[in-house]
Amino acid sequence: MPRTTVAIQIPRFGSPEVMEEREIPLPDPGPGELHLKVGASGINFADLLQRVGLYGKVPDLPYAPGFEVAGEVVRVGPDVEGWKEGDRAVALLRFGGYAKDVIVHTEQTFPYPESLTPAEAAGIPVVFLTAWVCLFETGHARKGDTALVLGAGGGVGTAAVQLAVDRGLRVFGTAGNAGKRTFVVEELGAEACFDSRGAWGDELLATLGGNPGLDIALDPVGGPATKAIRGLLNPLGRVVFYGMSEAMPGRKRSWPKAALARFRTGSIHPLSLVVPNQGVFGVHLLYLKEKEAIMRPALEEIFQGVADGRWKPIMDRTFPLDQDGAVEAHRFLHDRKNLGKVVLEAPA
Ligand SMILES: NC(=O)c1ccc[n+]([C@@H]2O[C@H](COP(=O)([O-])OP(=O)(O)OC[C@H]3O[C@@H](n4cnc5c(N)ncnc54)[C@H](OP(=O)(O)O)[C@@H]3O)[C@@H](O)[C@H]2O)c1
Repeated sequence: MPRTTVAIQIPRFGSPEVMEEREIPLPDPGPGELHLKVGASGINFADLLQRVGLYGKVPDLPYAPGFEVAGEVVRVGPDVEGWKEGDRAVALLRFGGYAKDVIVHTEQTFPYPESLTPAEAAGIPVVFLTAWVCLFETGHARKGDTALVLGAGGGVGTAAVQLAVDRGLRVFGTAGNAGKRTFVVEELGAEACFDSRGAWGDELLATLGGNPGLDIALDPVGGPATKAIRGLLNPLGRVVFYGMSEAMPGRKRSWPKAALARFRTGSIHPLSLVVPNQGVFGVHLLYLKEKEAIMRPALEEIFQGVADGRWKPIMDRTFPLDQDGAVEAHRFLHDRKNLGKVVLEAPA
């Protein structure tokens, strides 16, 4: 009898309610593969973009989103070394993580510390790796640099603030409510956090003494924010652009709003970078597979840093790993309510 599992799929593009729980075939693990029983599945802003149909290349519908899971190895395929039944593992996927079981290659799989729950472990890989690549691989952050993290209260944002503070940077953030702003300063160590819906550019400029002074800016927002940031950079300052949340202000796709966000982000001519000595870098984690030599050690260091208490996954809340849980989780992120990470959790 062929095995099956239950996945939460996107059958058509639309608002959170389109997601459906379905029984799907579960293949046996092939050479180098593991079968993980999923304990928790991380939710990312990109899942929302996928669900509304604003995310570039995706599988044919229907498919389950989900870039990261934590769980237990229940079957080991042929030619697998170093993994056995009962091991705890996190896995990075291109899609398919909203499911009770996944088949993953050991190349995508990492052990995680015993001190973490599956929900905490599932909330680490995407946001910490993104923050790591933006700050250290592309932003070349150095001790003493001044950094701005937009969306500092979100998943990537809370990871980025922690990594930057730990590296000895002077860190500023933006966030959309007072609770997030207080947390970013008091718990994560940023110097100040400004209202993302207010005049944060002017406030930051005043805080910097009236002179542009950013060495690094992490920009996942786009639109006018990107232009504002460029005016705040020091000579040799770097913008790392890794998302355009401005393109999705609601729970459904709106082509006019997405096009407006793109238009308002503007185009950057290389010549315009010369006199101000600026750099602009783009990052997309999904297309860094060939950089495994960077990613695997980075994730090992991230999990070691978490185990040592240098930084921690900031968890807002978990929702059940089922259709209703996924719908509620997506609504929660759309409403910009989350402080840190939201995760779908299987029953114990
Ligand atoms: N390129 C990559 O490889 C990569 C990887 C991971 C994430 N990302 C991007 O990084 C960003 C953060 O991802 P995440 O998973 O950490 O998301 P998240 O936890 O939901 O945080 C996103 C934050 O962005 C702000 N935001 C939400 N909707 C917005 C909108 N329509 N306009 C402006 N700001 C908005 C909100 O902050 P406030 O309301 O507090 O301002 C929210 O807390 C997303 O844009 C995502 O696509 C890119």
